[in-house]
Amino acid sequence: MHEKSVELLNKAIGDELSAIHQYMYFHFHCHDRGYQLLANLFEKTAIDEMRHVEKAAERILFLQGEVEMKPSESVEKIHKVRDMLERAAAMEKQSAQEYNEWANECAANADSASKRVFEDLVLDEERHYDQFSTEMENFDQLGDQYLALHSIEHTKGIT
Ligand SMILES: [Fe+2]
Ligand SMILES: [Fe+2]
Repeated sequence: MHEKSVELLNKAIGDELSAIHQYMYFHFHCHDRGYQLLANLFEKTAIDEMRHVEKAAERILFLQGEVEMKPSESVEKIHKVRDMLERAAAMEKQSAQEYNEWANECAANADSASKRVFEDLVLDEERHYDQFSTEMENFDQLGDQYLALHSIEHTKGIT
């Protein structure tokens, strides 16, 4: 009955719920300060993570396990944009690494469908990592101009 897979899928759900909370927290703060592009990126990524919860939960229920729905970490109250991007990139990197390991563990336990779920998540987390680290590079290259550009994008939306 693939108990280990259910345990790993629930761990993934814990990480995904933490990511949703953290990214929505970043979304609110960026939105409040008029950094619309970043606010949108955090919101869109949070929605992707919500779909990851759904995929993991569907697999748990198929395996007749219980879905725990417990965030693994509480939200870090980070307010500086550069620190938000760094935290988000680190979370994505860690998720991609863990899901790779857990995919291998599921394969070792002859549960290739759960392995496939983790592999699909890895693809998304690597894309998220790439997006956040690109924004971080832009920030480092442009400095204050970076935030100004994000504000301008907000103003364009209003007019
Ligand atoms: Fe995710
Ligand atoms: Fe992600």
